[in-house]
Amino acid sequence: MTLNYNKKVMKLFMNPKNMGEIKDADGIGKVGNPTCGDIMWVYIKVGKDKKGKEILKDVKFKTFGCASAIATSSMITQIAKGKTLEDAEKIKYQEVVDSLGGLPAIKIHCSTLATEALNMAIVDYKKKKEKQNFNKLKLKKR
Ligand code: FES
Repeated sequence: MTLNYNKKVMKLFMNPKNMGEIKDADGIGKVGNPTCGDIMWVYIKVGKDKKGKEILKDVKFKTFGCASAIATSSMITQIAKGKTLEDAEKIKYQEVVDSLGGLPAIKIHCSTLATEALNMAIVDYKKKKEKQNFNKLKLKKR
């Protein structure tokens, strides 16, 4: 079956932005779709803005999947970069789809993988931070 991807999707698929790993990532999210077999990783590096709020300083991805999965994961890194963690968590798959100028209906699920992977990376970061804070407290009590 031939799918009608628009030019923007094809351009990102052929030349994805922010592809790769962040070696010392603060958080990693991994999701897979058992039906199509696609797998996606999102890596985040957290920093602070001028007001001291935590922001996504860097976001990268690695995707083994269809053109839509690659284009949506690339697009979500571009949307999320520079956002506060709070705002990045609120990114909806529809925003990713709209930013790509639309996707074929049977490919919408690929965009939900991208939002899930980003959210899992943020959750991973928060868990690691909690653990670090807990360990610091334990050390203080000694
Ligand atoms: Fe499953 Fe694209 S076909 S993520």
